[in-house]
Amino acid sequence: MPRIAKLYFRTAIIFLIIGIAMGLNMAISQDHSAIGAHAHANLLGWVTMAIFGGYHALNPAKAERRIAMIQYGIYTAGVALMVPALYLMLTGYPQMEPVVAIASLITFAGVLLFAVIIFSGEPATRPATATQ
Ligand code: HEM
Ligand code: HEM
Repeated sequence: MPRIAKLYFRTAIIFLIIGIAMGLNMAISQDHSAIGAHAHANLLGWVTMAIFGGYHALNPAKAERRIAMIQYGIYTAGVALMVPALYLMLTGYPQMEPVVAIASLITFAGVLLFAVIIFSGEPATRPATATQ
């Protein structure tokens, strides 16, 4: 598996653990205020990151490109900032809203960069040779 795919799955599982911990905490305390942080930790974290990692695993040539690591850095920074800031915003710290807004835009930039990866052509991995 390409390095970037492993990295995405390792990051994704951390968000699933955090997301489920928030879900259990909501269920046990019967206070569902953190629902948005829970939903987005699981969906932007676990689900979307696992899809990004899966895409790289299926496209190992693209996974070696520099843009793949840059995209990982931007997207992960966005989600890693958004989830705790959203949690705080929803649980009594409304002043965190601008942080959530900035983190959302960083996350979106990471998504747009992934669109660039998806639409870019396969890099040439070996010199073109005549095929039979
Ligand atoms: C043991 C694991 C989990 C527990 C205990 C849990 C618990 C909860 C709780 C208590 C709520 C609030 C429900 C409400 O107020 O209506 C919730 C909502 C939600 N959870 Fe989880 N959850 C778990 C795993 C997951 C996972 C793995 C995902 C996604 C991959 C997920 C996605 C969502 C979403 C999207 C909502 C919002 C649903 C809505 O808007 O009505 N949850 N969860
Ligand atoms: C930067 C990206 C995103 C932003 C800024 C965003 C923003 C929002 C907002 C403002 C809400 C309404 C929350 C409320 O009513 O209290 C919401 C709800 C929701 N979003 Fe997102 N979203 C993003 C990405 C995603 C993605 C990628 C998914 C799924 C893969 C998703 C799934 C959901 C679900 C299931 C809900 C309803 C659960 C809840 O109330 O939290 N979102 N989102």
